[in-house]
Amino acid sequence: MESRGKERLNMGPKKKIAIGADHGGYHLKNALSGFIRQSGYEVIDMGAFSNEPSDYPDYARLVAEKIQSREAWRGILICGSGVGASVAANKLRGMRAAVCHDTYSARQGVEDDAMNILCLGARVIGEELAKEIVISYLRAEFKDLERYRRRLSKIKELERRWMTSG
Ligand code: RB5
Repeated sequence: MESRGKERLNMGPKKKIAIGADHGGYHLKNALSGFIRQSGYEVIDMGAFSNEPSDYPDYARLVAEKIQSREAWRGILICGSGVGASVAANKLRGMRAAVCHDTYSARQGVEDDAMNILCLGARVIGEELAKEIVISYLRAEFKDLERYRRRLSKIKELERRWMTSG
């Protein structure tokens, strides 16, 4: 992607990935963190650091803040289903989060929609599929086409008009 596009998409340094999970995603987070590092990325682990019951909105906020501050390039959130994490992450300004349990959506979500947080459900998919999805997500680049930019601008406009703070 051209640098002008990166600025507009508010992206942090490429290769830095913020990852977070509640208790439901704790084990998969640990497995994926090692895999992501081995794949040549830096992982910023925002917790949880145990499988004690915890609340996914907390990790959604922590991961989003790393992206908003441009300390991280993209994020990954894991809970039991991926749903709670994505609902929470999409409340945070500039976050484009989605549950993807297939490699097509993980790639296309970045290429067309500039998805910047991948959400996974550790109680839905296994570790090997999760790794393939993560790699599809991380290797994908936003396609800087006019129609994709137009749609993103409309999403920005929704944020401007309807998000009250943050
Ligand atoms: C926690 O039990 C579970 O509700 C959470 O991990 C997630 O699945 C929510 O979407």
